[in-house]
Amino acid sequence: MTDLQHFPDNFLWGVATAAHQVEGNNTNSDTWFLEHLPGTIFAEPSGDAIDHYHRYREDIALIASLGFTTYRFSLEWARIEPEEGHFSVAELDHYRRVLETCRDHGLTPVVTYHHFTSPRWLLAAGGWEDDATPERFARYCSRVTEHLGDLIGVACTLNEPNLPWLLKALGIGGEPAERRADVPLWSAAAGRLGIEAERVAPFQFTVSDAGFDIKLAAHRAGREAIKAHRPQLLVGWTLANSDIQAAEGGQQVADRVRRDVNERFLEASRGDDFVGIQTYGRTVFGPDGLAPVPEGAPVNAMGEEIYPQALEVTIREAHRIAGIPVMVTENGLATDDDTQRVDYLRTAVAGVSACLADGINVRGYIAWTAFDNFEWIFGYGPKFGLIAVDRTTQERTPKPSAHWLGGVARTAQERL
Ligand code: NOJ
Repeated sequence: MTDLQHFPDNFLWGVATAAHQVEGNNTNSDTWFLEHLPGTIFAEPSGDAIDHYHRYREDIALIASLGFTTYRFSLEWARIEPEEGHFSVAELDHYRRVLETCRDHGLTPVVTYHHFTSPRWLLAAGGWEDDATPERFARYCSRVTEHLGDLIGVACTLNEPNLPWLLKALGIGGEPAERRADVPLWSAAAGRLGIEAERVAPFQFTVSDAGFDIKLAAHRAGREAIKAHRPQLLVGWTLANSDIQAAEGGQQVADRVRRDVNERFLEASRGDDFVGIQTYGRTVFGPDGLAPVPEGAPVNAMGEEIYPQALEVTIREAHRIAGIPVMVTENGLATDDDTQRVDYLRTAVAGVSACLADGINVRGYIAWTAFDNFEWIFGYGPKFGLIAVDRTTQERTPKPSAHWLGGVARTAQERL
């Protein structure tokens, strides 16, 4: 049994999703647009996903019944502001019902305002490298908080603004120079949007100084807009924090990546109410870049090393550098072997416990992800879910890992 003595009474135990990955038919978003272009890098389109848009009541009831105390999900900007400056009250009301359902079931809603996807009009306007985007994001945050703020438990502005730099370190590019007209995806996108290929800047591909400045400005302007309506609401952003290590001769490369991906974003988090940590494993660098996975090491469904000890390291790093409360807003494993997932979660939660024992203020542990869902460019192949979904019947079946982590959450509550 997991030792729960260090977990405070108000510790949040939960599972997470993101709108585009579960709702289905997010047709007005930049990601849907990119999924359907000739030369797309997406393995398959998201389609109707797991139809969470219509099934949220049953889904939230199921999450609560497993023992969890929080549900992290995201709002879809493309639905809420379908055209620039025009807000849909019907869609805001939809998310109000989702929030009310959480509250009815005693779940604290941890709400992400932006989880990778943006309205298509934003992409056409120069996306996440356009100077006006922080203001646009702040206007959206303001409208959302005005309509929904009374029901939100914790607010996350941007999800993984640092991901592009991590992807770059892993060899998956995205520099403006790589968004050239001679690359089929970007030329097709630019052609349809009527803009230059370099101006097609989706959130996930903004590896440039402008991309960094604009995301940070958007986060801060968003935070102010939220606080203007709800001064007491906890606001932070959520970061992709790998445990970055050096193999022999790789110290310089590892130091540079750690600076680009982790440290400067953690420094920029100072002044927030918390920082969301999203750690999946470690990344080891040799002198020429990413080092191969050690011989015989267990790997996940995506061929990456399984390394749950990374969570503890990255919580300590966040605490040391940002100096503010930490919330684990994602942590999980892509595998078809749920026994492996339970082992992974057990080690990860023990890492959180060790941090708490040392006096680090960790506010919650939220696993990625509630349901098997759309894993972006990889499509529906990789399974991170604690609950399986049959996409033909849309039937949900909790896996042993859902019962295990929900049971930990329940035991923690029963002590009260
Ligand atoms: C981080 C992202 O926030 C989420 O959308 C993604 O599915 C998981 N990591 C797993 O890759």
